[in-house]
Amino acid sequence: MHSLTALAKLNLTLDVLGIRPDGYHELESVFGSVTVADRLRLVPDGPRGHLGLVVRGLPAPPGPANLCLEAARRLAEGRPGLPGVTLVLEKRIPLASGLGGGSADAAAVLEGLNRFWRLGLSRAELLAVAAGVGSDVPFCLEGGLALVGGRGDRVRPIPFPAHPLWLVLLRPPGTKTTAGVYAAYDRLPPGTVRPHRPETGRALRALAAGDWETLATALGNVLEPALAEPRVSVARGLLERAGALATAMTGSGPTVFGIARDRDHAREVAARAAAGLPCRSWWLYLARLAPGRKESIVPPGNTDQAT
Ligand code: C5P
Repeated sequence: MHSLTALAKLNLTLDVLGIRPDGYHELESVFGSVTVADRLRLVPDGPRGHLGLVVRGLPAPPGPANLCLEAARRLAEGRPGLPGVTLVLEKRIPLASGLGGGSADAAAVLEGLNRFWRLGLSRAELLAVAAGVGSDVPFCLEGGLALVGGRGDRVRPIPFPAHPLWLVLLRPPGTKTTAGVYAAYDRLPPGTVRPHRPETGRALRALAAGDWETLATALGNVLEPALAEPRVSVARGLLERAGALATAMTGSGPTVFGIARDRDHAREVAARAAAGLPCRSWWLYLARLAPGRKESIVPPGNTDQAT
């Protein structure tokens, strides 16, 4: 039985360079895995061709809308009679947050089923399937830290910093679809976007040097004015008053993150922010950048073991 960790991602920077002929937006974004994770187990189950999904923990899209099933279906396409399997997903990454939870789960499914079904797909083949499932899935397959371009499908890994980057994540309530946020972005006057542009080159240099004070001056996400969610500004203000070096929104929101000098500083920021939360439905999480997705094979003897 395979057990995989599906790490959330955040966008330390997110810039849009233009609109592509396929209607997607050309991105330039520094993606990083973070230590908030769902857990996926692949349990042998049912007759050949069977594909099931059980979700525990936080809510996740049910049935066919779940990216786990979409990823599994794409992998199974043209390969009839594969061994039956149930995907058991333990959700801890909040849904529709800009943290790429669904994409992380889909990437874990691709990685796990490639082995479980003994398909032998190469990294490049898996990446191609990942890009078809969703724009953030190729990064999630790689994990770690990367400069991402194209519609999300060009993933250039960046060496992982030796000095840990500690973060405080804060998700206010509220949800908009990613497609809706990109559509709103297209209607924004350029003057609204400019103050939110990151300095990507400077961010990359700061990451290489482990210089978090400089990184703090380079963050930005052009989708923030497109989301136009007042609670995002409230969340950023809260983290800033709590002492974060800088804050930004991740993905299409509404989660924001604050960066800290080190773990003790992050703990202080998190404690102060927790004391000032408007209500309990705001999700607060102490995290750090994580070096890629770790996989563990559960030792024999587990009750779900069937091979
Ligand atoms: O690829 P994914 O299904 O995650 O994207 C959701 C929606 O977000 C797309 O349908 C598209 O409207 C928008 N999007 C975009 N440009 C990107 C990524 C996503 O316009 N680079």
